Amino acid sequence: MTPPHLRRYDSVLETVGWTPLIRLGRVGAGIRTPVFGKAEYANPGASVKDRIGLAIIEDAEQRGELKPGGTIVEGTSGNTGVGLAIAASLKGYRCIFTMPDKMSQEKVRLLKAYGAEVVITPTAVPPDHPDNYVMKAKQIVRETPGAILANQFYNEINPAAHYATTGPEIWQQTEGRVTHLVAAAGTGGTVSGAGKYLKEKNPKIRVIAGDPIGSLYTHYHSARTLSQGHPYKVEGIGGDKIPSTIWFDWIDEFRQVPDRTSFTMARRLAREEGILVGGSAGLNVWLALEIAREVDDADALVVTILCDTGERYLSKLFNDEWMQENQMLETPRTTVEQLLERRPANAPDLVSVAPAAAVRQALNLMNTWGVSQIPVLDNGVSVGGLIEGTLMTRALAQPSLLDRPVRELMEAPFPEVEAATAIDRVGSMLTRESPAALVSKEGKLIGIVSRYDVLQQMIGR
Ligand SMILES: Cc1ncc(COP(=O)(O)O)c(C=O)c1O
Repeated sequence: MTPPHLRRYDSVLETVGWTPLIRLGRVGAGIRTPVFGKAEYANPGASVKDRIGLAIIEDAEQRGELKPGGTIVEGTSGNTGVGLAIAASLKGYRCIFTMPDKMSQEKVRLLKAYGAEVVITPTAVPPDHPDNYVMKAKQIVRETPGAILANQFYNEINPAAHYATTGPEIWQQTEGRVTHLVAAAGTGGTVSGAGKYLKEKNPKIRVIAGDPIGSLYTHYHSARTLSQGHPYKVEGIGGDKIPSTIWFDWIDEFRQVPDRTSFTMARRLAREEGILVGGSAGLNVWLALEIAREVDDADALVVTILCDTGERYLSKLFNDEWMQENQMLETPRTTVEQLLERRPANAPDLVSVAPAAAVRQALNLMNTWGVSQIPVLDNGVSVGGLIEGTLMTRALAQPSLLDRPVRELMEAPFPEVEAATAIDRVGSMLTRESPAALVSKEGKLIGIVSRYDVLQQMIGR
């Protein structure tokens, strides 16, 4: 094997690209089609966007727009800013970046670390609003002498950079065996440029773009009209306007993936493959595996893009609290047994009466233990149920009943559920007439859960 990096480099800019192609064998276990991830997080700025930063700057220099002492301005979700900032620091340009406020704090700090200035704008404004991050960037260019807009969403140098580098690398690294390219579109530069290159090499290669649910791209690809989008959480991909850097004609198909699915896969990649990447890479891998499963061919070869490092999202998708707050985590279902374990330590497991006990005794027990229903047990077998409200109404109307045995007044036995039953399933079984369920484990009754207990659990007490 040829060792990588045998030669020495004159600057970090020479280390952009030629990222490794890595088999995703753990998350893809059991799928016949091999799936490989192109490790764009291995670029010096830890994202796919390093590739376009230098290309855009050199193009502006060649066209005479960017001169020494000039300023580079861009509306960026972070990674393009890093790519531009790396090239700008070596070439001595000033950088000003505008960024929507949904982006993680790490990304803002990161850009500042490279010496860039960052202007935060609100996320929830329409694309043509003056406070939109792209509109803001344009305003800064107008007001700053010697400034250029990198314009990644409309700059053809962006897809051209992927046509010149990402595409040929994938072709060579797979020795021309690649059959599918799967990459979510932000600007669309990656999927369009690399996709066009690969299709020109082999027209049979299928190019599939991933898209977060809420983005307009998928609908636009099939209908060529704008639909109604909505906000989503995955960063760097999808959009609420159609950039000219998506070369729709070179993309066979768009497919949408929910945020939760993308984040869950990103978390799995860290734990199962040892690959720490962001949500867009999570989306890409999930979709690549779906395609691989459908293709089901050991001779096919799916390549997807591992867009950026997960370190950029430690406070978001790798933070359980953030995931929970955003309903992105599957909350484990509580079982009735777990509910019983939360009872106060001094309470008996199951307060019950025998059929021969007096009604007075049953009411006393309810009062002592603060329960509103009691099962009637005959040698451990449930033969009836007593409900406080009904029992009190009858005893008040006819006080002599207080001394009668409960067997004469008891109602139907309470339903029985297994200890492992999920709370939400029990909730729907309980009614005013049957307000509690007995819990059994291995054939023995171990407790009782009431409507009140279930409701307390559901409201998070
Ligand atoms: C994290 C992340 N993933 C994926 C992409 C998508 O790449 P492209 O803009 O080439 O479509 C971006 C682009 O900003 C990104 O920031």
